[in-house]
Amino acid sequence: MGSRILITGGAGFIGSHTCLVLLDAGHELVVLDNFDNSNPEALKRVEELAGRGALSVVEGDVRQSDVLDQAFRCKGPIDGVIHFAGLKAVGESVADPLRYWDVNLNGSRVLAAAMEQHGCRTLVFSSTSTVYGEPDQFPLTEELTTAPVHPYAQTKLAVEQMLQALCRSGAWRVACLRYFNPVGAHPSGRIGEDPLGIPNNLFPFMTQVAAGRRERLQIFGNDYPTHDGTGIRDYIHVMDLAEAHTVTLDHLLKQPAPSILTLNIGTGTGLSVLDVVNGFEAATGLTIPYDLVERRPGDVPRLQACPERAKTVLGWTARRSLEEMCRDGWAWQQANPMGYRKPA
Ligand code: NAD
Ligand code: UFG
Repeated sequence: MGSRILITGGAGFIGSHTCLVLLDAGHELVVLDNFDNSNPEALKRVEELAGRGALSVVEGDVRQSDVLDQAFRCKGPIDGVIHFAGLKAVGESVADPLRYWDVNLNGSRVLAAAMEQHGCRTLVFSSTSTVYGEPDQFPLTEELTTAPVHPYAQTKLAVEQMLQALCRSGAWRVACLRYFNPVGAHPSGRIGEDPLGIPNNLFPFMTQVAAGRRERLQIFGNDYPTHDGTGIRDYIHVMDLAEAHTVTLDHLLKQPAPSILTLNIGTGTGLSVLDVVNGFEAATGLTIPYDLVERRPGDVPRLQACPERAKTVLGWTARRSLEEMCRDGWAWQQANPMGYRKPA
């Protein structure tokens, strides 16, 4: 028997792929999203790919308790919540910190209060590898000191702390998943990452250059203390990340409460920006014109997960290669040059 799961932010990049994996695993879903950074078309395609319509949508803001009441009541008792709804742009968080504290922290607080009220205390929370700040010990294990260096990461760490306190206060079961860098798309090319405007992140920028939508990639910094001078990250295929959520939820639902888990979700492999560009060129046969430019303010030289705890606790490991990340991300870009919007 499947469970009934509430997914906040389920129309977004990671949320849409996770909804598909959950539907395929037989769960019934309620998605709450205000479509601030997503398109309802993503959810239509998720249902189409799953071949069934077990997904109800509540359009609204996670900071509003009446919207949450509607989501908790729309199908019957909710067994667990996956909380994706939030903001994620580092630079924007520096420019507008109050918005980040409001949406990310206050949104999570209002959600947790609604969960208490509706007797649902099982939660998977989207945290980030940026909580580690600028570490100098690799790979990163979960017990390393956290030292976030921008408001985005500070809000995520604050939510982790709020959830730890909840687990100390009552019968909660919580998993904080610290994602490394999710990229790629579902292999069908029907759902993928659809950033509004100029992409902040490497992968969507690179695929838009490949498609001719942007002229050249700018590589931010080639003087980092890494093998080729460009920044290192742990890129993970979004389908591996999506699968980590189903496994985490199944695990939590079997745990006695209270239970708190903090897990890195990455591959354990660090790749530089040039490694990614070379990998993309090899996977697609295309050429990415690029310029080496100044470092981007706020970037750290390296983030790379130790994924051992997730393997031990959940039996989960990332399975997909850089080649698959590139091939699937490119297939999505080619089939959807303007994302979910229709080309003019
Ligand atoms: P996304 O922007 O594609 O998805 C977030 C979704 O939440 C969107 O559908 C958006 O419309 C919705 N949303 C935003 N504010 C809302 C609000 N107030 N009420 C209701 N819905 C709201 O982002 P994503 O890449 O899918 O990330 C999902 C989560 O994972 C976010 O919390 C993000 O901070 C976190 N995260 C992302 C990354 C990454 O690199 N993509 C890395 C680490 C953590
Ligand atoms: N980069 C470029 N050119 C670009 C974009 C990025 O060279 O046009 C470089 C960056 O300098 C960095 C690497 O590519 O070295 C990755 O940058 P991204 O912007 O793709 O990703 P970040 O690691 O900066 O941050 C992302 C998300 C955060 C999330 C974090 C988790 O934006 O929300 O991954 O590790 F928290």
